[in-house]
Amino acid sequence: MTQTGAQNLLLGVTGGISAYKSVELARLLVASGAEVRVVMTEAAARFVAPLTFQAVTGNPVRCHLFDEEHEAAMGHIELARWADQMLIAPATANFLARAAHGLADDLLSALYLACSAPVSMAPAMNVHMWRHAAVQQNLSVLASRGVSILGPASGEQACGDVGPGRMLEPADIVAMLGSLSHRGVFAGKKVVVTAGPTQEAIDPVRFVGNRSSGKMGFALAEAFVRQGAEVVLVSGPVALSTPPGVRRINVQTALQMHKAVFDNMERTDIFASCAAVADYRPERSEKQKIKKAAEKLVLGMVKNPDILAEVAALKDGPFTLGFAAETENLVENARAKLRAKKLDMLAANPVGDDLGFERDDNALLVIWPGGEKQLPVQDKRKLAQSLLDVLEQQYLTHAGHS
Ligand code: PMT
Repeated sequence: MTQTGAQNLLLGVTGGISAYKSVELARLLVASGAEVRVVMTEAAARFVAPLTFQAVTGNPVRCHLFDEEHEAAMGHIELARWADQMLIAPATANFLARAAHGLADDLLSALYLACSAPVSMAPAMNVHMWRHAAVQQNLSVLASRGVSILGPASGEQACGDVGPGRMLEPADIVAMLGSLSHRGVFAGKKVVVTAGPTQEAIDPVRFVGNRSSGKMGFALAEAFVRQGAEVVLVSGPVALSTPPGVRRINVQTALQMHKAVFDNMERTDIFASCAAVADYRPERSEKQKIKKAAEKLVLGMVKNPDILAEVAALKDGPFTLGFAAETENLVENARAKLRAKKLDMLAANPVGDDLGFERDDNALLVIWPGGEKQLPVQDKRKLAQSLLDVLEQQYLTHAGHS
């Protein structure tokens, strides 16, 4: 077995600046034990010479559909049959659109349609292109047809913009292909994930909220989808695009989140409660904007329902993964929450000035009755994957398959 699970890996390279990273990707894939053949679009060949991939993989590179030498024997069909895994990296917005609409006007898009092996795509494009509704719709179509979407990463882009759209680092792509290849446990399971903050209205223009960005919960939803789970993501107000393949329900308040979670509890196997739910809401939300008249304003607050504790108390309910955001006594407080809410597992993170909330990275102490594992600081996407690796064993034990 190779590191990625593929013996014959077809690497498609399309025309984006991150095509240069695909050379290193090809090298790592060869090092992982796979036989790698590269197909490039014409635009990709403007960024990197085909000869470079040929040197790295030891195999000739193909670029054209109408290649007289290879197509005499229907070479593209043969190549599609040869592959036991197909990876397109980088996958440009143009390629995603053509794949989503079933065009077959060049070798790579024809191969995608002809290939019955599992397909993964690592998108790479400008942040505004990534956020465009057309791109997001194409991604959803591809994900609904079983394509695994890897990334993109967030950060500074070649064009100077900052945000999601960068191709994942080659080593991360290889690691993700590895986790896809053993997607046994969570495949077909229904998972409900909550993410982001809740906002509790004081009046029509003000609310009580918190600093959660939703990044951790969205990364978790994405990791579950990658492993073949059916994911419902109940999200508070955040500025993130929905991971492909995820069904998202937007809410604002804790009461709305409570309703959305319980409306979707039927058949749920795992409940992952990553949202920073407000513990209290204003006793009353004023109909009109409160005027600046009195010297002192006192807000009466009432307790919100504890969504996670209620799910954990369900008879024959799902496996429950809670989170704990702590500014002090992390271990004691986390253990107390695990016990009090009767959870199967809890991921605790220190939060404060420059920790946990909003950032792209995080660290988690994962605890369960009788054990714990520290997951060091890393990008939230990688962290979510590591968390699933820990969860897998506990989930199997819980489900009685140990
Ligand atoms: O969103 P990011 O910016 O990426 O930041 C991630 C995070 C720090 C928000 C995340 O990692 C995290 O810690 N989420 C839980 C935050 C939190 O509300 O912790 P808590 O200790 O207050 O709550 C404990 C658990 O009970 C949580 O699973 C929470 O979702 C749940 N809860 C809390 C209150 C409530 N009324 N209902 C709940 O379900």
